Amino acid sequence: MQVHKKYSLKKYNTFGVEATSDYFFIVNSQEEVVEALKIIKTLTTNIFVLGGGSNLLITQDFKGAIIKINIQGIDIIKETDNYVLVRVGAGENWHKFVIWAVEKNFYGIENLALIPGEVGASPIQNIGAYGMEVKDVIKEVEAISVAKLKSNLFTNKQCKFSYRDSYFKSEAKGKYIITSVVFKLNKNKEFNISYGEIKGELEKNLSPLSIKKVSQAVISIRQRKLPNPDVLGNSGSFFKNPIVSKSKFERIKRNFPDVIAFELSDNKIKIAAGWMIEKLGWKTKKYHGVGVHKKQALVIVNYNNASGNDIMNFAKRIQIDVQENFGITLESEVNII
Ligand code: EPU
Repeated sequence: MQVHKKYSLKKYNTFGVEATSDYFFIVNSQEEVVEALKIIKTLTTNIFVLGGGSNLLITQDFKGAIIKINIQGIDIIKETDNYVLVRVGAGENWHKFVIWAVEKNFYGIENLALIPGEVGASPIQNIGAYGMEVKDVIKEVEAISVAKLKSNLFTNKQCKFSYRDSYFKSEAKGKYIITSVVFKLNKNKEFNISYGEIKGELEKNLSPLSIKKVSQAVISIRQRKLPNPDVLGNSGSFFKNPIVSKSKFERIKRNFPDVIAFELSDNKIKIAAGWMIEKLGWKTKKYHGVGVHKKQALVIVNYNNASGNDIMNFAKRIQIDVQENFGITLESEVNII
C-alpha cells in the first residue's frame, strides 16, 4: 500500500483537471482496502474510491481521502462446455480484459472494447455500448462494506442494474468498495451486431464474422468518433440519454421532426442527447477552453487546461439550453466531486 499527502489528481482523471487530495491511498489487495479504511477512519469521514478516473469531474481540491484501487488478476474460476466464469480484480484495465476475452473466444463483452476505465467501475454505472451492457455478463460483485470492513458478495439481481445505474451508484452510493467482479462469458459463438453502426462497419469487410472482427469494428467506430482522453481530456458521454414518455416525445417531434430517438420496450422513448446538443449549436461553442467534441456533442472536451469548474459551468449552460428548448432535464452521467 502507498500513502501520499496533498497528492495531485491530474494524472488520475481523464479530463486532466488539476486538483489535490488531502490523502491518497493506493491499494493492491482486499486486505489492503481494509487496512486503508482503518487508517482513514482516524483521519476523515470523507472517502472517495477511484478507479480509472474516466467518469469523473473534479471541481475542487478533495478534502478527505481517496482510495485508488489497484487490485489485479484475471482468473478463470469455472469452465464448462458452454461458458466460463472469470474473476477479475477491480483495478484491471477494462479494455485489457476485453482483449483477453476476445483472444480466448469468450463472447459477451467484445462490443465494449475501448471503453476507458477499470473493471471495478463497470458494474457501478453498468457500462454499455453498441447494444451491449455489462449487466448481461456479470454474475456477481465482491465488495467491502466501508462501515463494517467486511467483504460481501452481490448477485446480479442484488446489483439492481438499469441504464447507466446500479445499487452501488444509487441507494448504496459510497457504502461499498468493489474489489472484484465475476463475469459469465459465453463459449458459444453468439454475436450482438444489431446496432446500426456496427452493421455498417462490418459490411466493409465481408470475410466470415468473428469475435475479433466485431471488437475491431467497435474499436474503429470509437476511434473515429470519440476523442482519446490521452490526447484530449474528456470523460466519454457527459450526460445520459433522457428517457421520456411517448406523449412528451410526440410533442418534441412536432417542433423537431428530425429528432433522433429509440423506442424502448416499455412504451418509453430514449432521445439521443448528442443530437439535441448538436441541434442547439453547441459544436461551435467554446468557453474557457471547454467545448463539445466535433464528432460527438454528448462528449464534453477540455480543449485547453480548463478547470473542473469551467467544465461544470459549461455543462450547466448546456443543461439550461436543453431544458429551455426541449423541456428535458439532462442528467449527468459522470461523477462530480
Ligand atoms: N448524434 C448526433 N449528433 C451528435 C452525437 C450523436 O446527431 O453530436 C446522433 C447519432 O448520429 C446517432 C445518435 O445520436 O444517431 C446516437 O449517437 P451514438 O450512436 O454516438 O450514441 P450515444 O447515444 O450518443 C451512447 C452511449 C455511449 C456509447 C454509444 C454507442 C450514453 C450516455 N452514451 O451514446 O457511451 O459509446 O451509445 O453505444 O448512453 C459513455 O457512456 O461514456 C459512452 C461513450
